[in-house]
Amino acid sequence: MNEEKVKKYHIVTYGCQMNLHESEKMAGILSRKGYVATQDKSEADVILFNTCCIRENAENHAFGNIGELKKLKRQRPELIVAVGGCMTQEKGKAELLKKRFPFVDIVFGNLNLEELGDLIEERRRRKKKIVSLRDEAQGVVEYDPPLRNSFPNAWVNIMYGCNNFCSYCIVPYVRGRERSRNPENILEECRALVKEGYREITLLGQNVNSYGSDGETDMCFPELLERVAQIEGDFRVRFMTSHPKDFTEALVDVIARNRKICHLVHLPVQSGSDRILHAMNRRYTAGQYMEKVRMLKARIPDAELTSDIIVGFPGETEEDFEATVKLVQEVGFASAFTFIYSPRTGTKAASMPGQVPEDVQKQRIMRLIEVVNGLTREKSAKYVGGETEILCEDFDPKRSLYFGRDEYGRMGYFPSEEDMIGKFVRLRVDGANGVSLFGTPVSVR
Ligand code: 5AD
Ligand code: SF4
Repeated sequence: MNEEKVKKYHIVTYGCQMNLHESEKMAGILSRKGYVATQDKSEADVILFNTCCIRENAENHAFGNIGELKKLKRQRPELIVAVGGCMTQEKGKAELLKKRFPFVDIVFGNLNLEELGDLIEERRRRKKKIVSLRDEAQGVVEYDPPLRNSFPNAWVNIMYGCNNFCSYCIVPYVRGRERSRNPENILEECRALVKEGYREITLLGQNVNSYGSDGETDMCFPELLERVAQIEGDFRVRFMTSHPKDFTEALVDVIARNRKICHLVHLPVQSGSDRILHAMNRRYTAGQYMEKVRMLKARIPDAELTSDIIVGFPGETEEDFEATVKLVQEVGFASAFTFIYSPRTGTKAASMPGQVPEDVQKQRIMRLIEVVNGLTREKSAKYVGGETEILCEDFDPKRSLYFGRDEYGRMGYFPSEEDMIGKFVRLRVDGANGVSLFGTPVSVR
């Protein structure tokens, strides 16, 4: 028997699905170095923060949690504390982190994530603290085997970075320019996932529609999506995120003719006011957005949409905000993420005149949330008495019910004596409580 104690890691993740998946990659690196995961920080040998900087509150959250480790690190100086992710890529943030938290051992970025294992070894060998960051991405790491944590769903990166420079957004600064992965490698990863029994694949990229436009491959996104959907097996496919300016009829055709692709499109609109959309550098008008929605619904009548919406962008008037509310109602989003505009240093919008007072931003977001929730509730209520098919993700011990989502992203709960995780379950919907459905299984596959 190996006498050496097994080393443990604990990862704290902030932000989006991209980050959640990158944490899976970090976990993959650590597991190949012999570490196992623990939920308990106090017994971890490595604690890793995978940060996000898209809004100020995500940053504050991370700063708070890192600060809380001071005591633990004092008690156990051999503990390695590493901070990675988007925030460390921000100008000046690594210095700030070092100053505020001198106990942090390693600062690294998302552009050199693959070095994590070596950085930890280096830190163990030498006393010196490490800051290792890359300003610019060096190509694409084609495949860094992740330790997946989301069965039966699997995330697959198809591209990294963003070229859009929406005026509020820090992503292009911290994640660099668009880089597409090789299509054969993507398809190989997807085939392997299906073989392993994964039943949902989500293709990930900041703007999946511009896949291939960096010249790295001749394949465009609709073709890639179709090739993924044509992989043999009983699974479904999603993708995110689509930029409305690049959302094409060709893509809608692919969705329409491949039933494995979910009839749900995440299409962030951000605002319903042309003036604000222009200031955001979104490069479409509210009318053009509505055209795309109509095009989608004409081809796929049951298609649903979800969105990201920002309120309180600099210069947003009551009238602009009302235009957003109107658009939200007109589209009838299945649900939407709503955000208060958060100024990000270095972005164009941060220095724009007319920053909106906080109380006005709060009032607007409350109103918007009410509208969005109203739409979600209405749609849930329509399910009652009918049927829907959900992919069972997990068991909720508090409710003693299994749960999962249907292709439109709606959460459904149901009782079962058998383990249903990873199964497609057809539910008769008996009731709904706003966002969630409750039902009885009628068939399983
Ligand atoms: N403030 C508020 N929300 C933002 N987002 C991006 N940058 C900001 C910001 N500075 C939102 C956008 C984007 C989502 C991922 O985050 O709505 O679509
Ligand atoms: Fe940010 Fe716009 Fe790129 Fe999305 S498309 S990551 S909002 S710059």
